[in-house]
Amino acid sequence: MSVPVPELRERATACADRLRDTDEILLASHIDADGLTSAAIASSALSRAGIPFETVFSKQLDAEEIASIAATEYDTVLFTDFGSGQLDIIAEHESAGEFTPVIADHHQPADADTEFHLNPLLFGLDGSSELSGAGASYVLARALESDSTDNRDLAALAVVGAVGDMQISDGELVGANTGIVEEGIEAGVVETGTDLALYGKQTRPLPKLLEYATDVYIPGISNNKNGVLRFLDGVGIDLMEDGDWRRWVDLTDDERQTVASALVKRAMRKGVPAKKIDGLVGTSYILASEQEGTELRDVSEFSTLLNATARYERADVGLAVCLGDRHEALERARTLLTNHRRNLSEAISWVQSEGVTREEHVQWFHAEDRVRETIVGIVAGMAVGADGIDRGTPIFAFAEKNDEEVKVSARGTPGLTRKGLDLSIVMKEASRAVGGDGGGHNVAAGATVPKDTEAEFVAHADELVGKQLE
Ligand code: C5P
Ligand code: C5P
Ligand code: ZN
Repeated sequence: MSVPVPELRERATACADRLRDTDEILLASHIDADGLTSAAIASSALSRAGIPFETVFSKQLDAEEIASIAATEYDTVLFTDFGSGQLDIIAEHESAGEFTPVIADHHQPADADTEFHLNPLLFGLDGSSELSGAGASYVLARALESDSTDNRDLAALAVVGAVGDMQISDGELVGANTGIVEEGIEAGVVETGTDLALYGKQTRPLPKLLEYATDVYIPGISNNKNGVLRFLDGVGIDLMEDGDWRRWVDLTDDERQTVASALVKRAMRKGVPAKKIDGLVGTSYILASEQEGTELRDVSEFSTLLNATARYERADVGLAVCLGDRHEALERARTLLTNHRRNLSEAISWVQSEGVTREEHVQWFHAEDRVRETIVGIVAGMAVGADGIDRGTPIFAFAEKNDEEVKVSARGTPGLTRKGLDLSIVMKEASRAVGGDGGGHNVAAGATVPKDTEAEFVAHADELVGKQLE
C-alpha cells in the first residue's frame, strides 16, 4: 500500500522531475521535529538520486527570510514543512525569475499557487492530522526513486515527523499517514503494536513514566510521586533490577499486562470517565532498527529529542541524528534534551503558578522573556488541560522575540475544531490587524506581532474565535 491519493503522487512526480532537471538546489526547512525529519527525508532522497543540494533551516519563513534565500544563486528552492503559508511572497520572487520553488508542506496555503506545490490540503486531505511535512517529503522521496533505489526505509522518519506534529488522533495515526506506516512495516523499519499510550516507555524509570503521564489524569498517580510508589508496590512485580528501577521496555509482556490492567482498574475506581480510560491504550510506533531502551526507538521520544536540538539553534545536530549519526551528534542531542526538559518543566510550573487571563472566548498568558519563543508553542500545548487551565477554551501564549516583536502561539483541541475553530485563520487575521503575520493549522497556529500590540491582538482573536464557535 502507498499513500492512497494518486493525484498527490502525480504532483510529487512533477516535483521530482523538476528537481532532477536543475543544477543548484537549496533545501530549506523548519526547525521542529517535523521540519528536521522532512529535511532528512528530502536530503536522503536527493543524495540517493545523485542530485547535489545544500541545506538551511529557518525558525520562521517570513518576507525577510525569503528575500535572503532569493538573494542566493540557487535556481531551485525546495521548501519542506513550510512554504505553503508564504506562497504569496514566494510567488512574487518566482515571477521575478529569482528561483523556482518546489514545496512539500502541509500548512494552510496562502492565496497564490505554484506549479510544484505538494500539499495534502490541495488534494482533500487534512494537513493537521492526515499528512505532515515529513509525510509530504516522503511522498516526494518515493517519486525520486530510480530502478535501483528504494526509499521506503525513510518511512521511519516520516512517522517521527507526523507524531512530532501531534497527528495522532484517538490513539493512532490516520489518513494518508497509515499508508506510510504500512510501507515502513514492509521495509522492516517500523513496528506497530497495542500498548500503554504514555510518553517515555523506552527511557523513563517506571515511577516517572506514571507520575509524569498527565494526558489522562489519574488521581493518586498523575503528578503524585508517593502515590505512584504505593501503586507499584501493590502490583506485586519486582520492579527493581540491580538497584535501579526497570523501565517499561524492561518488563515482559505478562508484566506489562499486569501493570496496565492495574492502572486501568485504578482509573475506573477513581471515577475517570470511560472515554478517557480508553486513551490510556493506543497504537505504539517503534523504529525497528533502533536500539531498545533509547530515545530513538520510540517515535514520540525521538521527536522530543529532535525538538531539543533545532529549537535551540542546533538543527545540524538533529539532522545528523536523523541521518544516522549515533556517536557525537546523539551525545550532543542528549545533552540538549536535558536542557530542553528542564526549560519545559520550569515553564509549565510558571504558567500554573501564574495562571492565565480569561477573555470571553479565549485564554492567554504572557511569558515575556521567561520562555524561549521557539518553545512557547510546546508550553501552550502542554498547558491546555493542565491543572486549573480549561481544555474547552483555546489558549494563546506570548513570548518576547526581540526588542520589537513578540511571538504568539495558539493551541486548541480536536473537539474545538469540530465546533468550527480554525486557529490558522484567527492567527493570520488577528496578527495582520495589528501589523504582524501568522498562520498554521486549525488546531495549532502561530504569529509574530509588534511589541505592545498584544492587548489589541487578543481583542481581535477573542472576537474571531467567538464568531467561529457561534
Ligand atoms: O510547523 P508544524 O506544522 O510542523 O507544527 C505543528 C505544530 O502544531 C506542532 O508544534 C504541534 O505540536 C502542534 N499541534 C498541536 N496539536 C495538534 C496538531 C499539531 O499542538 N493536534
Ligand atoms: O510556533 P508554533 O509552534 O506556535 O506554531 C504552530 C504552527 O503555526 C506551526 O505549524 C507553525 O509552522 C505555524 N506558524 C505559522 N506562522 C507563524 C508562526 C507559526 O504558520 N508566524
Ligand atoms: Zn509540520
